Amino acid sequence: MDYLWGMKTISRTIRHAGFADASGIYKLIKANPNELVPRSMNDIIQNVDRFIVAVAGGRLAGIVSWAILPEIGRTEQPTVEIKSLAVDQAHRGRGLGRALVNAAIERIRPLQPEQIIVLTFTPEFFARFGFKTVAKETLMHKLYTGCLNCSKYDSPFTCPEVAMRLRLAPRAKSRR
Ligand SMILES: CC(C)(COP(=O)(O)OP(=O)(O)OC[C@H]1O[C@@H](n2cnc3c(N)ncnc32)[C@H](O)[C@@H]1OP(=O)(O)O)[C@@H](O)C(=O)NCCC(=O)NCCS
Repeated sequence: MDYLWGMKTISRTIRHAGFADASGIYKLIKANPNELVPRSMNDIIQNVDRFIVAVAGGRLAGIVSWAILPEIGRTEQPTVEIKSLAVDQAHRGRGLGRALVNAAIERIRPLQPEQIIVLTFTPEFFARFGFKTVAKETLMHKLYTGCLNCSKYDSPFTCPEVAMRLRLAPRAKSRR
């Protein structure tokens, strides 16, 4: 899909990430230190198959990834977390964030998790996809593994990040 960027029209693509995207992903995460948990190059490369990227005008303009949390939920239906969502400042407000989250949800859906969760400072954005706020206490394992290394707040409960979840409707059986 194309969009107007400044005085020119540029094309955008949403696709799975490859190793060549790793350094761009690293830079985009680093560019959003207030909203995103830092990730090492090693972590990004090892999980590059769990990243979707937006490319606009031939350049990396947005990223999203997900993680499987078997500790939350039943073994057959663990929880999946959407994380590391960012759109380059210059490309915001043009639908890339929405396209990335939709693509991540569609990629996660066939896994049939119990729920998709997100910890976010922008709950209004995620509410647009049907995410609902939940008590942080329901995600204790995630809080204590994910928030353990964060020094910004005394405890996950004083951190203003909002916990949200999306329950996926079972897919309608296709008729043949
Ligand atoms: C949040 C973020 C990914 C949104 O990306 P974006 O490409 O600007 O979003 P879109 O253009 O796709 O916006 C889709 C809709 O959400 C709305 N929206 C965008 N950012 C929003 C926000 N922070 N809060 C509420 N609504 C928001 C838009 O107005 C748009 O509404 P519309 O459908 O009525 O037009 C981007 O602002 C960003 O990278 N922020 C910094 C990192 C961050 O906060 N990541 C999320 C951490 S979990």
